[in-house]
Amino acid sequence: MASTPRLRRLLSFAVPLASSTALGVAFAHARAAPHVVELTLTAAPARLSLVPGGSTDVLAYNGQVPGPTLEFREGDHVVIHFHNNLSEPTTIHWHGLHIPATSDGSPLNPVPPGGTYDYVFTLLPGSAGTYWYHPHPDRRTGYQITKGLYGALIIRADDDPLAGIPEQLLVLADNRFLPGGEVDLPLHDSPRGELDEENGREGDVLFVNGRIMPTLPIRSGEVQRWRIVNAAAARVYRLALAGHEFLQVGTDGGLFERPVPVTEIVLANSERVELLVRATGAPGSRAVLRTLPYDRYVPQTRPADWNTPRDLLTLQYSNDAPVAPIALPERLRPVPALDTTQVTARRFLVLSQGLINGRTMDMHRVDVRGRLGATEIWQIENVVGMDHPFHLHGFQFQVLDRDGVREPFRAWKDVVNVRKHQTVRFIVRFDDYPGKWMYHCHILDHEDQGMMGILEVTPTRR
Ligand code: C2O
Ligand code: CU
Ligand code: CU
Repeated sequence: MASTPRLRRLLSFAVPLASSTALGVAFAHARAAPHVVELTLTAAPARLSLVPGGSTDVLAYNGQVPGPTLEFREGDHVVIHFHNNLSEPTTIHWHGLHIPATSDGSPLNPVPPGGTYDYVFTLLPGSAGTYWYHPHPDRRTGYQITKGLYGALIIRADDDPLAGIPEQLLVLADNRFLPGGEVDLPLHDSPRGELDEENGREGDVLFVNGRIMPTLPIRSGEVQRWRIVNAAAARVYRLALAGHEFLQVGTDGGLFERPVPVTEIVLANSERVELLVRATGAPGSRAVLRTLPYDRYVPQTRPADWNTPRDLLTLQYSNDAPVAPIALPERLRPVPALDTTQVTARRFLVLSQGLINGRTMDMHRVDVRGRLGATEIWQIENVVGMDHPFHLHGFQFQVLDRDGVREPFRAWKDVVNVRKHQTVRFIVRFDDYPGKWMYHCHILDHEDQGMMGILEVTPTRR
């Protein structure tokens, strides 16, 4: 690996470089030198108060749930010193980042208990967006995320067309607790455990940045930019804010070409979204961000309360007089179309319950062999009556169509929710980074059951 300048500045709980947003997410910055960012993340057991009146044994990055929000800029050379202080193997996967396979934190590169690993990567121009990080060990990803190992990662661009607009980060997660506060993890062969494996585990306690029903301040007339991460194991959010419209400006891999007005957002697990919220409410008023019912289930295992909307946070308007509305840009950035005439391979993947093309994951098998530099079309067909969010590591793709209906606008994605009995096609270019890359259903229980495969990208032989 190329040598990286090693001006060292460690980040840990003690370093006074963290600031807080209104919702209490700590931002971890460590600016060692122009373009070199070096920091330390430690995964370790901790005891935190997650729910009122209880305390919980958690696994945490740097002692907090969610872990510190990592903020970088395009062009940064990032060195993350990772310490595994868990009693089991783990990794850190940088979900959505286009970085070398050796730093991807896939199950192929476990860090043993007590071990350390340096994740080293450069954030390329055009990568600005909202991402997240989480463990990815073989068959234990769901467990470790559920115990508290997840955090957000933001990459900023120098020429951000929305720079200066106040921002909020909303990291969504859910969990279930026993009386007293411990995480409720049923045995696999219990009825509850079997239901979790079928549907993916959902919790009745809904967190925003590790808090239950927090209050977010806003001033009448202002515009806020919300970056939202769905870090839940299986829950699909359908977000709506009564009396307000959103302008969706981006998704997994950053900004769209132009804003898109929407009244609600369906956000499958591991997807991200960027929204502009215009504060059209009156001074002193309030509004609640809710998740509305979304039917991703087969009828036989659909939860009884699936049809109940749930509150996520309160938007509280200050009493200040409204500010004058700002003009919003009509163009955000170009999203150049991947060239369909360059396609050299078409892949057909069939999702059934727990399986991809009829098989479960084998760490020693390569399922798809791709050439470095190739452009491919992947067709993902879901043949069962439950949604499966399909995720590819390492490469952002562009959805072409869903059930033959052309995608209305271009966007960079790394996960696409393939609805019940739906077929989605996307185009992807393996422009760099040879190696082995996972693709899988991002319902963590399905992933851990082996609903995953391996793409190997190799340089062309001369
Ligand atoms: Cu979010 Cu394979 O991961
Ligand atoms: Cu990933
Ligand atoms: Cu699935």
